[in-house]
Amino acid sequence: MQLKIDNIEIDPVILAPMSGVTDMPFRKLVKKCGGGFVVSEMIASRAMILQTRQSMRKASRSEFEDSTSIQLAGCDPEVMAEAAKLNEDLGAKIIDLNFGCPVKKVVGGNAGSALMKDEKIAAKILDSTVKAVKIPVTLKMRTGWDSNNRNAPKLARIAEDLGIKMITIHGRTRCQMYNGVADWKFIKKVKEQVKIPVVANGDIKSFDDIKKCLAESCADGVMIGRGAYGKPWFISQALHYLKYKKIIKEPCKKEKFNAIKEHYQDMIDHYGEEVGIRMARKHIGWYSSSMDNSAQFRKTFNTITSASAALEEIEKFFTD
Ligand SMILES: Cc1cc2nc3c(=O)[nH]c(=O)nc-3n(C[C@H](O)[C@H](O)[C@H](O)COP(=O)(O)O)c2cc1C
Repeated sequence: MQLKIDNIEIDPVILAPMSGVTDMPFRKLVKKCGGGFVVSEMIASRAMILQTRQSMRKASRSEFEDSTSIQLAGCDPEVMAEAAKLNEDLGAKIIDLNFGCPVKKVVGGNAGSALMKDEKIAAKILDSTVKAVKIPVTLKMRTGWDSNNRNAPKLARIAEDLGIKMITIHGRTRCQMYNGVADWKFIKKVKEQVKIPVVANGDIKSFDDIKKCLAESCADGVMIGRGAYGKPWFISQALHYLKYKKIIKEPCKKEKFNAIKEHYQDMIDHYGEEVGIRMARKHIGWYSSSMDNSAQFRKTFNTITSASAALEEIEKFFTD
């Protein structure tokens, strides 16, 4: 059931890297809830080698994250290699390379999913990064640039030959951005090309989705992103479902409140009060979204600028 990334065993349910979401406080909570393998937000390799405050913060890990993968983005093979080496020296156990980001700013700099259009430079990045570090390097990509160029199976072969140890496929092309639906069946074409573990990603939000996605993709594991918004415990539930075919129930109100409170406090500690409160707004919004009077609560909460006042509001709303 476990996936093997070289000599490291990981759980077959992975929390997707999501910029601005899966920062250290969120990953810590996912791990504390008992869940899976986690990946950092993408870190621009150039900022990483300059060790900017933001990139160092993104690369930091909590005491609950033993093998968290650090994801790097960029277009220069040497810079990517140097950034990987730096993270290895900082104690990272796994490096993930981002060939999937569709955002204009990233693609415009020939990074992220733009690399799927240029297999030569893609291969150079894979090669230089693998050679720069002793720890395993993995790859996350989309199915291709557009519907006429779905080259993920070919790129996966290239990657495996160059020493990549695991591949995650988001079942959309770059041009789809986040529209349409993830094509889980296409992921099978990647699986057929390589011996290393293949992880399926995209639109997995329920236990049925996990079952269907694995049946269609024949993947070795699943990666969950937006399905964990406001539900850090979903990763652990998904893992339990995969391992034991049983659904563990949602945490009770008190357990949820304790998790939210801790998450909030960790965000304040991680970012400082001003940024922490801003970062907390979207998470608190997701936590509250299915509850009565959540719109009114969010309206009030989003105007609060003091950490202690925000905590009082959280306590009032989530324990009521
Ligand atoms: C807000 C947001 C930020 C994301 N940031 C990253 C990132 O930093 N690195 C990456 O490889 N993918 C990133 N992704 C893509 C996700 O990892 C994932 O591939 C995608 O959301 C599809 O999975 P899902 O349907 O389970 O969310 C991001 C997605 C979202 C919604």
